[in-house]
Amino acid sequence: MRKTLALAVIGALVAGAMVGGATMALAQGDVIAQRKENRKQTAAAMRAIKGIIDAKGATSGAVEQAAKLKTLELAFVKLFPAGSDKGETKALPTVWSDRAGFDAASKAADAAYDKLAVAAGSGDMAALTAAFGATGKACGACHEKFRVKPKT
Ligand code: HEC
Repeated sequence: MRKTLALAVIGALVAGAMVGGATMALAQGDVIAQRKENRKQTAAAMRAIKGIIDAKGATSGAVEQAAKLKTLELAFVKLFPAGSDKGETKALPTVWSDRAGFDAASKAADAAYDKLAVAAGSGDMAALTAAFGATGKACGACHEKFRVKPKT
């Protein structure tokens, strides 16, 4: 009787562990998809700003995009839990081995987005163009260290 109960408990634990494992794998797939989607929106915001610059439109149109970039970045750095280095990801292992460097690269991007917002609000197209270029460099600086190089 006792033995049967013990076995049932062990059985339940094993089943629980298996279900837990499957959920974890799913959650990791989700988090990778979420961070890619986040970067797609980031790229879209950058394209929108480029469009304003190219069209020599009102710089104020970029204010909202700069704010969007900041919001996306703050969410982005939280999407790299332990274990999410495995799967359909282009994130390099350095994200996890040099977390401080990764966070610093993200903070540098935040600072660039802030300057972009100020430039967008200034009405000065030259300032917006310069801030846009600096932002692109902040993207590239992080990609250089923390993302698999895209094949060209
Ligand atoms: C703090 C680091 C960091 C910053 C800053 C950063 N990225 Fe990335 N980016 C990454 C990483 C890491 C990946 C790979 C994510 C993955 O595949 O899991 C990535 C992936 C991407 C992708 C590919 C998304 C996909 O569909 O797979 C695009 C596009 C992108 N970034 C654009 C940008 C742009 C534009 C900026 C600047 C406005 C930017 N990134 C700033 C780290 C960064």
